[in-house]
Amino acid sequence: MVRVGDEVSNKQLIFRDYVIGSPKESDMYLTTGTIKLKVPEGSNAVLVKNLYLSCDPLMQFFMRKAEGPNGYLYYNPGSNLFQTMLYACDSELVICNFWVWVAKVLDSGHPEFKAGDFVWGIIGWEEYSLITKTTDTLIKIQHTDVPLSYYTGILGMSGMTSYAGFYEVGTPKKGEYVFISAASGAVGQLIGQIAKLEGCYVVGSVGSKQKDLNAALKRYFPEGIDVYFEHVGDKMLDSVLLNMRHHGRIAVCGMISQYNLDEHKGIKNLLHIGFKWIQMKGYTHRNYYHLYPKFLDLVLPYIKEKKMVYVEDIVEGLESGPAALVGLFSSRNFGKQVVVVAHE
Ligand SMILES: NC(=O)c1ccc[n+]([C@@H]2O[C@H](COP(=O)([O-])OP(=O)(O)OC[C@H]3O[C@@H](n4cnc5c(N)ncnc54)[C@H](OP(=O)(O)O)[C@@H]3O)[C@@H](O)[C@H]2O)c1
Repeated sequence: MVRVGDEVSNKQLIFRDYVIGSPKESDMYLTTGTIKLKVPEGSNAVLVKNLYLSCDPLMQFFMRKAEGPNGYLYYNPGSNLFQTMLYACDSELVICNFWVWVAKVLDSGHPEFKAGDFVWGIIGWEEYSLITKTTDTLIKIQHTDVPLSYYTGILGMSGMTSYAGFYEVGTPKKGEYVFISAASGAVGQLIGQIAKLEGCYVVGSVGSKQKDLNAALKRYFPEGIDVYFEHVGDKMLDSVLLNMRHHGRIAVCGMISQYNLDEHKGIKNLLHIGFKWIQMKGYTHRNYYHLYPKFLDLVLPYIKEKKMVYVEDIVEGLESGPAALVGLFSSRNFGKQVVVVAHE
């Protein structure tokens, strides 16, 4: 049992160098430092014990040297990325949470956080963190009667993405035909459940080894697709375009198949956008956090009434982090990928 003021060992995951191509486990290594479990006298810092770490495909953007699509500053090899995340928050984002943790406050000089609180937000890959800048990086968890790991997923960034994608971008109506790629993943599984609850016809794809996507889509959507939630790109998007209905909508959340390529693959069937008056719109979760309370009002009752379930792919220990993160890009995960570093 650790106490405030103790000096304890602190395992950290460090990136060896900038990542080239697909992230590999060998790009990261574990090291052990020490940390004093007390915020500096007079500061408004927060000291937390980290519990659940979220693995997200977007994280790979921050591991590269070249400027990425968002133009963020990248990390310095040999650091655990925390500073980079804070920079991104300072400069551009309202709430930035690509490196999401759920943590317990052990000590705090900040008026909004006290010892014993649970928080979610951007924290480093380590067992304990001293957070000196809390604005827009830490959110106090108000509802603790659900699994706290859910704040890495359904009640955190992934959930917010699903909600915004469904209600603000794709906007399917009752009875419409909805297709979701990466449908068992952190974002896809919630979109699917919301779509069902809203009375849509829903089909999702899982696994990327389907040989004839076009034939499969024709089989499941003989009348075509009204709304497609795009998470993977490449051949899937090409086949979907062939199978969209007139006035269809495509909500582009991500294209994971392209993230680790030097040169992105082209799409052949874009002509269908014009022929069928399709609207294709990209979005990111961070533009929609003003809707977070509304999102919680919708999702929390469903979770508590067990009308919504959330599948998590949980691995134990900080040392399992590299394999879990890398596995996102080879379909190794089934459900939201979570790393448990400590139980509450
Ligand atoms: N716009 C935003 O704000 C935002 C926020 C969160 C996530 N996203 C995006 O949403 C998508 C899903 O993210 P998530 O967190 O829910 O991840 P996830 O679906 O839990 O995990 C990634 C999944 O992508 C699929 N995949 C991996 N490599 C692939 C490839 N080369 N080709 C086709 N499918 C592949 C695999 O699912 P299968 O089993 O189906 O193969 C894998 O399990 C990603 O594109 C991510 O970048 C965007």
